[in-house]
Amino acid sequence: MYVCLCNALKCRDVKAAAAAGARDVPGVFKACGAKPKCGRCFEETARFLPNEAEDRVTA
Ligand code: FES
Repeated sequence: MYVCLCNALKCRDVKAAAAAGARDVPGVFKACGAKPKCGRCFEETARFLPNEAEDRVTA
């Protein structure tokens, strides 16, 4: 399933970026070699990222 239509990024691309260390939406775009354009996908992209608040509690 596509998450970002502007850059043709699929959910597997976003998951791979998160697994490789991306911790925010700009980090995902950078890891994928893409640049944000319309911004419609930002909320959906963030859903694939680890919950930072949860990380702080478990760290
Ligand atoms: S859909 Fe992702 S930047 Fe437009």
